[in-house]
Amino acid sequence: MLFKTTLYLLLLSCSSSFVVSLPQNNPYLTSTTLFLQNYHKMVHNFKVFMYPPDTNTNTNQFNFGTEVESLFYSSLLNSSYLTQHPQQAHLFFFPFSSEISTRSLSRLISRIREDFPYWNRSLGADHFYLSCAGIPNKNDRNVVELKKNAVQISCFRTRRHRFVPHKDLTLPPISNLHAPVKSGGGDSCFIEYGNDMGEAMRLGCVPVVAVTEGGVNDMAFMDVLRWKEMAVFVKSGVKNDSNTWKKREENMKRLSVEGSKHLRWNRPPQPLDAFNTIMYQLWLRRHTVRYENIHTSYTQAII
Ligand SMILES: *[C@@H]1O[C@H](CO)[C@@H](O)[C@H](O)[C@H]1NC(C)=O
Ligand SMILES: *[C@@H]1O[C@H](CO)[C@@H](O)[C@H](O)[C@H]1NC(C)=O
Ligand SMILES: *[C@@H]1O[C@H](CO)[C@@H](O)[C@H](O)[C@H]1NC(C)=O
Repeated sequence: MLFKTTLYLLLLSCSSSFVVSLPQNNPYLTSTTLFLQNYHKMVHNFKVFMYPPDTNTNTNQFNFGTEVESLFYSSLLNSSYLTQHPQQAHLFFFPFSSEISTRSLSRLISRIREDFPYWNRSLGADHFYLSCAGIPNKNDRNVVELKKNAVQISCFRTRRHRFVPHKDLTLPPISNLHAPVKSGGGDSCFIEYGNDMGEAMRLGCVPVVAVTEGGVNDMAFMDVLRWKEMAVFVKSGVKNDSNTWKKREENMKRLSVEGSKHLRWNRPPQPLDAFNTIMYQLWLRRHTVRYENIHTSYTQAII
């Protein structure tokens, strides 16, 4: 009897190496427990310092161009993530209007470089900014530093040369949909990645993402959610790969429903929703730069 149990356990542990190919049971890249632990740490500790907005623009009248940017901005302003004490901050938010000219943008960066010690410390790497369309390449030192070093929050589908996958983020689109989506046939329901996706996912639809040349690297929450298990990726032009779909249909639907709470925008924000998940992604990026606090006194000492 004992032998049998041992053998059974042995077989179980041997077969565990095959488990990786089985459908995943949670929508996260880590375990749900680990995700929630980190998320709660973020909620309680994350602090962001926002530079005073350009004095020529009224704080609440920033022209962001898109509703989703304004919603993120307003959510951040109302949130407890903001601190008035920059020395407590993990990251620095640099707000500017989406209509700003390169020259004004450069001038604003010069100003925060002169007025605060934080930009020079990392050349902007612990800073973030909102720009739906992304910053184009410019021959300006300030703008180059912003674009290369700071975390850009932009919109899907990002333009060529305006998105740096290892640091930049995209906002999930706002869903205005409240009625069930018409299903594609039988009980299958697909929704194109983009507007209305979050709500459709909540109702059990699976997003379809058109894969562009070079793959997809600019979807929302790519470092949080296991999109591979939640969405169907198709080459542009081909709308439906029924083989891929049939095999994973039920699991994908379930994960889509579970993951959809992260894609939902709320006013005011709710736990685990789109706003808070963006904050979580920023929190994951807070350690990109470490400071040598002793650096200044040390160099002074050897001089
Ligand atoms: C940051 O460095 C620039 C030179 O690159 C300098 O002009 C500026 O005064 C420095 N800012 C601070 C706050 O020390
Ligand atoms: C894709 O194919 C599956 C299986 O043939 C079908 O059930 C589904 O309705 C199709 N979806 C779309 C969007 O055409
Ligand atoms: C932020 O607070 C203002 C004033 O209370 C309110 O009008 C606005 O809707 C809030 N924004 C969000 C996203 O909750």
